[in-house]
Order: sequence, then C-alpha cells, then structure tokens
Amino acid sequence: MKSALIVGATGLIGNELLLYMIDQEVYEQITVFVRRPLQIKNKKIKEVVIDFDKLEHYSSFFAVDDVYCCLGTTIKKAKSKQQMEKVDVDYPVKIAELAKQKGATQFIVISAIGADSSSAVFYSRLKGTLEEKVLSVHFNRLLIFRPSLLLGDRKEFRLGEATAAFLAPVFSIFCMGKLKKYKPVEARMVAVSMFQEAQKKEHGTFIYEWDEIVRYQ
Ligand SMILES: NC(=O)c1ccc[n+]([C@@H]2O[C@H](COP(=O)([O-])OP(=O)(O)OC[C@H]3O[C@@H](n4cnc5c(N)ncnc54)[C@H](OP(=O)(O)O)[C@@H]3O)[C@@H](O)[C@H]2O)c1
Repeated sequence: MKSALIVGATGLIGNELLLYMIDQEVYEQITVFVRRPLQIKNKKIKEVVIDFDKLEHYSSFFAVDDVYCCLGTTIKKAKSKQQMEKVDVDYPVKIAELAKQKGATQFIVISAIGADSSSAVFYSRLKGTLEEKVLSVHFNRLLIFRPSLLLGDRKEFRLGEATAAFLAPVFSIFCMGKLKKYKPVEARMVAVSMFQEAQKKEHGTFIYEWDEIVRYQ
C-alpha cells in the first residue's frame, strides 16, 4: 500500500479526488494540507492545517509516494496578480521541490488548457510558467492535467464560470477535431483520471488534455 499527499483537497477537483481516493485500496494514508479543517473525516486521512507561506516547516509530511497538487485561485479571490501567482505557481513549485527532496516518486498537478509561459493572457502565462518550473524539478513521473472549463457542484458562485457552464452543452457541439481540448469537463472526471493515471509506472512527463482525461468515463 502506498501513501499520498493531496494539496488543495478543499477545492472542486481536490475534494472529488479525496472522496474517490478514500474508496480505493491503493493508499493506506492520505495526508492532506489545508488552511481550514476538512468536512470529511476518515481513518485514512491525516489532516494537517498549515501555513502555506512556511511549507518548508512541514517537510516531514512530504515523505510520501505520490503528491497530488490541486491548488489554484482566481484573481478575484487573490486580489492581485502577485498573490495569484503565489498560489498557482510558487506554492505548487515549492511543494514539488520539497516532495522531490523527500523521495516522492511522482507529482500530479493541475494546469489548464492553453498553458503557455509566453502567452499574452495572464492565466495561461501563469499555468505555462507553473509547468516549466515543475518540469525542472525532474520527477521520475510528472503528470500535468490541462482541463478546460470545470463542471461540478461548486459551493461558491463564480459568475463567469456559471455562465460558461450554462452555455457548455452548446459550446461543446462546436468543439470538434483540434478544438476538442476546449470542451468543458466534469471535475470528478479530472479527479478520477488523475488517480488512475497515477497508478501507472512508466517514467516520464505526461500531459493530459480533454481526450486523455475523459478516458475513464
Ligand atoms: N475553474 C476552472 O474552470 C478551471 C479550468 C481549468 C483549470 N483550472 C485549474 O484547476 C485547478 C483546480 O481548480 P478548482 O476549481 O478545483 O480549484 P478551487 O475549487 O478554486 O480550489 C482551490 C484549492 O486551492 C486552495 N487555495 C486557494 N488559495 C489558497 C491560498 N492562498 N493558500 C492555500 N491554499 C489556497 C483552496 O483552499 P481553500 O478551500 O482554503 O480556499 C482549494 O483547496 C486550479 O489550478 C485551476 O486553476 C480550473
């Protein structure tokens, strides 16, 4: 039996991932870094409330097999580009570095479709930078998930996402061929795919867009 660390387990994908993982007989312990207590209690979960600005203080918790990073924020919540970069890039990269130092063998991280460090779009640039920096940590296995719009039962209301989700069925019809990667996807689907792909052994860096994510539907 293996051990895992999930960061971002209170989020839409992270929560789906945690719920799915608890039911699978793969990990005997799932460490979860949170800044507020989880609603879910389970004997497999080791909940650690941390200060994300002091990640290095928790280095012993990084000694796991697999690290799943589901962190992210919005510019509205972060209130500045700098703060958003901290959550979407700096924390995940620091987590990757500490995990690698402690011997974790694989890092599974959520980016976004269109990730490109030279993009004119701030969000795409952030995700591109995240991917480049995480790549330079040199994990045996690095899995990068690039979903488009996430669908699911989000507790908080986000106008842009809600509008896009409303239009998603129509939008999806036009996403064919090369545009398929822009199709909205259920957060649960991303979580299941992250977990299932993490059970493979082949070394390398693997990128997952819509086609690869929905494989487990
Ligand atoms: N939303 C979309 O349509 C979409 C599309 C493509 C890619 N993505 C990417 O997919 C990933 C997961 O998205 P999601 O919608 O599941 O995320 P989410 O629901 O917004 O959850 C984000 C997670 O990050 C944590 N977090 C946020 N700010 C933090 C901070 N300052 N310090 C520590 N933790 C913090 C949250 O913790 P708290 O619960 O404590 O706030 C939560 O666990 C993100 O990287 C996002 O950019 C999203």
